[in-house]
Amino acid sequence: MKTLVCFYSRTGITRKVGTQIAEALSADVEEIIDHKGRSGPIGFVTGGKDAFLARTTEITEAAKNPADYDMVIIGTPVWAGTMAPAPRTWIMKYAGKVKNMAFFCTTASSGMDKTLAAMEELSGLKASASIGFYERDVKKGDTSERVKQFTSSLTSA
Ligand SMILES: Cc1cc2nc3c(=O)[nH]c(=O)nc-3n(C[C@H](O)[C@H](O)[C@H](O)COP(=O)(O)O)c2cc1C
Repeated sequence: MKTLVCFYSRTGITRKVGTQIAEALSADVEEIIDHKGRSGPIGFVTGGKDAFLARTTEITEAAKNPADYDMVIIGTPVWAGTMAPAPRTWIMKYAGKVKNMAFFCTTASSGMDKTLAAMEELSGLKASASIGFYERDVKKGDTSERVKQFTSSLTSA
């Protein structure tokens, strides 16, 4: 199964999980780049507001054609209880070209289920699998079991 893992990451947590998932599946990787500055306290506040209001943002054009893959996996940090604007924008732009999608998110403490459900709904596809990770487990390096659980549960239509 030809698989692409795409993720947005502001501080590296979602990137770390995305890289582990991609390694487990020998998948291609593409980081979603948000053109809006998200660093520092102002970036945090405006990011939270943009996410809460379900705003899109400007992202770098996809370099890898999502239509070339059997499965695309999208990862996001939870922002204000939902997906960040950059993965939201990616899903809105490209999900129509994708055959099968799966989702993952990372969070400090809350919003996993709601975020994963919102991504699935936005994609218009039935998620092949979805899973959330806690930031503290990612920092401890304690994610291999959940990564295995996620990658082994992937199914394609
Ligand atoms: C703007 C913003 C909003 C956030 N909102 C939430 C939240 O609602 N609930 C939560 O548990 N964590 C929240 N977080 C924490 C992130 O979900 C968490 O730190 C995540 O693992 C960071 O991933 P990253 O390093 O890939 O950016 C928020 C972080 C940011 C920057």
